[in-house]
Amino acid sequence: MQTVRKAVFPVAGMGTRFLPATKASPKEMLPIVDKPLIQYAVEEAIAAGITELIFITGRTKRAIADHFDKAFELEVELEQRGKTQVLAELRNMLPPEISCIYIRQGEALGLGHAVQCAQPAVNGEPFAVILADDLIDAEKPVMKQMTELYSYHQNSIIGVQNIAREETGSYGIVSPQPLSDKLYRVASIVEKPKPEAAPSTLGVVGRYILTPRIFHHLAHIERGSGGELQLTDAIAALLKEQQVLAYEFAGTRYDCGAKIGYLQATVEYALKHPQVKDEFYAYIQQRFCR
Ligand code: G1P
Repeated sequence: MQTVRKAVFPVAGMGTRFLPATKASPKEMLPIVDKPLIQYAVEEAIAAGITELIFITGRTKRAIADHFDKAFELEVELEQRGKTQVLAELRNMLPPEISCIYIRQGEALGLGHAVQCAQPAVNGEPFAVILADDLIDAEKPVMKQMTELYSYHQNSIIGVQNIAREETGSYGIVSPQPLSDKLYRVASIVEKPKPEAAPSTLGVVGRYILTPRIFHHLAHIERGSGGELQLTDAIAALLKEQQVLAYEFAGTRYDCGAKIGYLQATVEYALKHPQVKDEFYAYIQQRFCR
């Protein structure tokens, strides 16, 4: 039986919806309260037992690699100033058993291409893909829910949620055959269909566990939706030879690739943050609830 030890984080996107903030740094470095999106994604992977983090980076890669590196001068400075709590947080960001690999995606040819770039590091194992701009607040981290399912089913699993029909053009959409509660066999999958052509309203959210056979299909797909090499198209080919499951996860997802989702996440996470929640709640009350 195989376990999922590796996660791929495609972080080479242009982040055009957040320009100019994303001109010189990746959108995955945008903070929700005090942590960048990529750190939430990495924490979710670690909570799922993943120990190898593979970042597919692009033009603005430095900030992400720097974020997960040891910052020696900063640590000395914090120590001297007696800032022990934040120092401990920085030091514990990546436990010692976790390793990071950075692979550069030369050209932004799409999500499928980004995942394909991870092949040498994935090296024939099942692996997770986490899109950091889909931030999911869940009691049990969603990737943990999915690795538990994987350990039983041993085939590819895609995280899905019900979306509004008018939004199918923003998602990969699956045609589901119910298996058990919240779990479906994927009969087909299509990238960003028009509402009238969508086979259902179950949309793919940025969480995948894939068998390494996906790389065979990634090598053979042609440019699809938006002229890009789409992961969805490789999954469509994969499910003709292997079972692929869709899992309606438990949790609230914020689309932090869009301004409105990003702002909603900021408000919700601020209202839970131990340092600011009381003051922030009082502010919201005073500002909007009179
Ligand atoms: C990507 C995938 C799409 C998926 C979405 C989830 O699209 O291609 O299938 O539904 O992520 O966020 P993007 O949002 O990068 O255009």
